[in-house]
Amino acid sequence: MSLQQRIHGASVNEIAVAPGRSEEGARASEPAQPVEPKAAPAEAPPPVRTDPHADLKTRIHRACIAKLGPQLFASDTTEDLGERVEITVREELKLDGTQLSTEELGRVVRAITDDILGFGPIEPLLRDESVSEVMVNAFDRVYVERFGKIEQADVQFADNEHVLRVIDRIVSTVGRRVDEASPMVDARLLDGSRVNAIIPPLSLKGPTLTIRKFSRDPYTIDNLIAFGTLTPKAAQLIAACVRGKLNILISGGTGTGKTTTLNAVSSYVPEDERIVTIEDAAELQLQQEHVITLESRPSNIEGRGEIRIRELVRNALRMRPDRIIVGEVRGAETLDMLQAMNTGHDGSLTTIHANSPRDALSRLETLVLTAGVDLPLRAIREQIASAFDLVIHQARLVDGTRRVTHITEVLRMESDVITLQDVFLATAPAEAHLGRVTAMLSPLTCTGLKPHFLEKMAVHGVMLPAAFFQQEASDLHPAASFSTAAPLKAGV
Ligand SMILES: Nc1ncnc2c1ncn2[C@@H]1O[C@H](COP(=O)(O)OP(=O)(O)OP(=O)(O)O)[C@@H](O)[C@H]1O
Ligand SMILES: [Mg+2]
Repeated sequence: MSLQQRIHGASVNEIAVAPGRSEEGARASEPAQPVEPKAAPAEAPPPVRTDPHADLKTRIHRACIAKLGPQLFASDTTEDLGERVEITVREELKLDGTQLSTEELGRVVRAITDDILGFGPIEPLLRDESVSEVMVNAFDRVYVERFGKIEQADVQFADNEHVLRVIDRIVSTVGRRVDEASPMVDARLLDGSRVNAIIPPLSLKGPTLTIRKFSRDPYTIDNLIAFGTLTPKAAQLIAACVRGKLNILISGGTGTGKTTTLNAVSSYVPEDERIVTIEDAAELQLQQEHVITLESRPSNIEGRGEIRIRELVRNALRMRPDRIIVGEVRGAETLDMLQAMNTGHDGSLTTIHANSPRDALSRLETLVLTAGVDLPLRAIREQIASAFDLVIHQARLVDGTRRVTHITEVLRMESDVITLQDVFLATAPAEAHLGRVTAMLSPLTCTGLKPHFLEKMAVHGVMLPAAFFQQEASDLHPAASFSTAAPLKAGV
């Protein structure tokens, strides 16, 4: 059966599927396919099938699924499931009658059980702690991110069908389905890893899978300091800002570590505060006890039942929150967040996809407009300026490290523009164009400017001495340290 036939023939059942998120989909494939042209499939080289047992595996896999059926997805899955699957695989292989050596038999059994119980050829990659992202661009092209760098992995699927089976397996465990009616799915593995799958006809070269692995042990601020993402002094400032209930926006390109930083920064929220987190796919792992975790819901197969972040933000306001943490603003919820912040819900934290602090503010404007409000731009800008106090901006460098490049105060409007003031800055030399071409980056240093938000922090009982913002000797000549910095990756 061809891939298309498989998709057409897929039985559509009750399962809810994520609606199209074009931006997410585009971003998910972005890092792994930097130079792939949008060429017609005819131009691509013919796929090479290197596995001589591919057909056999497909046959046996199908037979086992048919035989084991719902047992595989039963909630009371017992420990002997693995054993049962292996026995069934061996029985079906015997019935099939294909001649295999003992070694081949062992390999085929292992591959099929991995497919049925786990995630097939990418199973070892998901187990590998050094891998942070797994990207299946095509059945014979699997990429991974290790230590911030993307490399091709030494594994392949047998064919597109095989990828599709693994996608089915992944999304069905979280009660979702991918088929022609809903060719795009966002899901989450049981361990919290974020999954995006997109299949033809939307993805031209076959089913595509992107898994952002999530570590059980999320990075702490100390980890981020050890990685050189930020300095202890910058962390001290951020700690004071969080405790002082400033509204903070973390911005950066895709995969620059916004969610990770948000998670780490949220550890500064005092234990006695009631926190409500709102996300599309729950990625945050807050350490506090008093946390309520909300997750949006996609519409079901009839296109009904969707609960967006926006509704959750509104609902959260009725839950007596001390803090509202929204994983990422990417739509109309931005307006509700702004209104919440401007009506006394201080200390909110969120992230946004943007290429600079200034860009983050203009994206906020655009997102507010998607709420369909009839507000003049100036009024929106004023709301943004009075809602947010601070932008923490991150970038990913070509060597894979993530760096905070700006800690910027959002000041008030001056004529038609929101004034920004950098409090900490990792600068690039004048000849480099940050974010567009490779650039060298100095360490994150204090600019010497005393922020205006100290007053707001003081209202919440958090003080920072003015001397904190005095530049140290090394801060005065950042250019001297360029040699130790890594170049910035283009576009992020
Ligand atoms: N400071 C850091 N140093 C090294 N690696 C990091 C750092 N922050 C995050 N990472 C790794 O980078 C990857 C992306 O992190 P994260 O999900 O936080 O990024 P993001 O900006 O929220 O991505 P997206 O735009 O897809 O939401 C993860 O694998 C994470 O472990
Ligand atoms: Mg994120």
